[in-house]
Amino acid sequence: MKIFSGSANHKLAEGISAYLKIPLGELQLRRFPDGEVCVKIVENIRGKDVFIIQPTCHPVNENLMELLILIDAMRRASAARITAVLPYYGYGRQDRKDQPRVPITAKLVANLLVAAGANRILAMDFHAQQIQGFFDIPVDHLFAAPVLVKYLREKKYPKSVVVSPDPGGMKMAYAYSRMLKSELAIVAKQRRGDCEVESYNIVGDVKDRVAILVDDLISTGTTLCAAAQLLRRHGATNIVTAASHAIFAPGSHARLAQSEINEFIITNSVPMNDMGGLPIKVLSVAELLGQAIDRIHNSQSVSSLFKVE
Ligand code: R5P
Repeated sequence: MKIFSGSANHKLAEGISAYLKIPLGELQLRRFPDGEVCVKIVENIRGKDVFIIQPTCHPVNENLMELLILIDAMRRASAARITAVLPYYGYGRQDRKDQPRVPITAKLVANLLVAAGANRILAMDFHAQQIQGFFDIPVDHLFAAPVLVKYLREKKYPKSVVVSPDPGGMKMAYAYSRMLKSELAIVAKQRRGDCEVESYNIVGDVKDRVAILVDDLISTGTTLCAAAQLLRRHGATNIVTAASHAIFAPGSHARLAQSEINEFIITNSVPMNDMGGLPIKVLSVAELLGQAIDRIHNSQSVSSLFKVE
């Protein structure tokens, strides 16, 4: 087995490498003077089972293109099998035609990865489960929930309610509420623009409870801020957010700093922007991804990784 890291999240790749006790493979990664990606694999990978770790986070086009070029280089260097490890799958939110004349970028990216030469995908918390079906190659889809729930349990909140900030996240919130043995509530949300969201109703009781807002990702933060405002108005005592991917788009820092949210619990699936001053707890998914890589390499089941102890 060989594991390589693109430049998107080298720290996470180092954590995976430390867990697996396998050094990261040697690569030369640079840009040509005109900005094009230049890659060279420094060691022999002929006949190897290769894993390339690269979340396609910001700068998404750069990171995606780098991943595609790395896959191409590995294929041409005669790797026996190439697994693209995407702890975060960028462009995943355009997963259907919800308006006339718009693309389905989640499918386009799937096509690109396969065309480049990926034989398998290992991903974590796709924006929508059905993205798995956009690939005609095997996809192992992990959840960050076991890592986040373990931490949430340690907090021993006296009276809590898991809240989905929108109806689309209901299944995820339901799973968290079962794992945490807590109540469930759902916020009705209408998105009016990239940075404009209206949260207008809550189904469920949040009064005098710690609200645990769960979401797959935080980008501009508008979804969580609007939901938190409503939760506070409905009597939630404390508002905690648990999210798999902390994208933290430009402008999110100021928005989240002024919000009603008391704590942010996130993972290191993508490298974090400077969010100084915010109460953020970052949990590592290196071990989870490392275990999955080990199991895939040894042809073992990965479903045990979905369980919460
Ligand atoms: C929505 O469907 C997602 O689950 C997230 O709630 C949303 O994409 C977060 O984006 P933002 O932070 O920009 O509101």
